[in-house]
Amino acid sequence: MLAVRPTEQVAADPGLPERIDRLRRERNAVILAHNYQLPEIQDVADFVGDSLGLSQEAARTDADVIVFCGVHFMAETAAILSPNRTVLLPDLAAGCSLADTINADQLRAWKAQHPGAVVVSYVNTSAEVKAESDYCCTSSNAIAVVNSIPADREILFCPDMFLGAHVERMTGRPMHIWMGECHVHAGIDPAHLDAARRRHPDAELLIHPECGCTTSTLYRSSSGDLPGATTVVTSTEGMVRRAVDSPASTFIVATEVGILHRMEKLAPTKRFLPATPGAICPFMKMITLPKVAAALETLSPRVTVAPGIAARARRAIDRMLAVPV
Ligand code: 13P
Ligand code: SF4
Repeated sequence: MLAVRPTEQVAADPGLPERIDRLRRERNAVILAHNYQLPEIQDVADFVGDSLGLSQEAARTDADVIVFCGVHFMAETAAILSPNRTVLLPDLAAGCSLADTINADQLRAWKAQHPGAVVVSYVNTSAEVKAESDYCCTSSNAIAVVNSIPADREILFCPDMFLGAHVERMTGRPMHIWMGECHVHAGIDPAHLDAARRRHPDAELLIHPECGCTTSTLYRSSSGDLPGATTVVTSTEGMVRRAVDSPASTFIVATEVGILHRMEKLAPTKRFLPATPGAICPFMKMITLPKVAAALETLSPRVTVAPGIAARARRAIDRMLAVPV
C-alpha cells in the first residue's frame, strides 16, 4: 500500500537505524515524526503525533537539534517555537499542497476586504501567513479556537474549506472560508466511504476534517442515514486515540494511509481499513531513513524563519496554545 515498505530501506542498509541512533546521541537531537510518516521513520522517532502534539513537543524539548520528519510548515512552526535550536527538515522539498493555496499577499488582500475581522489560520500555512493571522489552529483545537473568539467578531478562516465547513457546523458560527484544499484529503469523497461501508457495515468511521467527505458523512450520520456506524471526526492523533479506546474492532480510516502503521502498532488486535488506499501524501513520503541520517551527519538542510516574521507568527501560535481544549 505504501510507496516504500519499512523493510526496503532497512534491508538496503541494515545498519541505518543504529547509525541514526548513534548520531542522535552525538548531536543531542530529538526526532519528531508526523503520523503520516513512513513506518520506518515512525519507528526511529522519539515522538510521533499530530501537528499540535509536534508543536508542543518542539516547544518543550531541551535537545540542541530537532530533526523534523514531516513537511515544511511543521518544521517552520518548530523553528518559531524553538528559535535557539537547530531545526532540520531532511528534504526541503517536502511541502504541502494545502499550505500552498494561500500566501501572505493573498491574505493581506482578503483582510483588506474585511477590516477588523479576526483571522484564524490553520497550522498548514507558511510562517508569513501565520504572521498575518490573529490565531493559528490545528485540527485538534480549531473548534475551541473559534469558540474562544467573541461572538460579535467577523472571522476569516483559511485555508482549508472542508475543515472550515466542519468548524462552522460544530460551532454554529458563520465564517468567511478560504477555498483551499489538500489534494490528498479532497480525494477521499463520500463514494469511497460508502463503498467501504458496504463491505464492512459494522466498522467505525474515523474521519480527518480535511476530507472532502466530512460534512456529508456527519450530516448523514446525524440524520440516521448511516445506521450502526459510529462516526468520529478528529485530528490524526484523535483518530489514533479513538482507535485504541473504542470498543469497535474494525475501523474505516479516512485520512492519509501512513497513520495505519501507528494504529496497528498501538491496537494490534484490531482491523484498520483505509477509506481510500491511494490516499498517500507524496510530501510526507519524501522523508526517508538515509535522508534522516544525512541530516544528522551534516546538520542540514536547516529550516529558519526571519526573526520579524517569527515574532508575529509566534503571537498567533501562542494564542492558539493558550486556548484550553
Ligand atoms: P493533523 O494535525 O491532524 O495531524 O493534520 C495535519 C495534516 O497535514 C493533515 O493533512
Ligand atoms: Fe499537506 Fe495534505 Fe500532505 Fe497534510 S496530507 S501535509 S495537508 S498535502
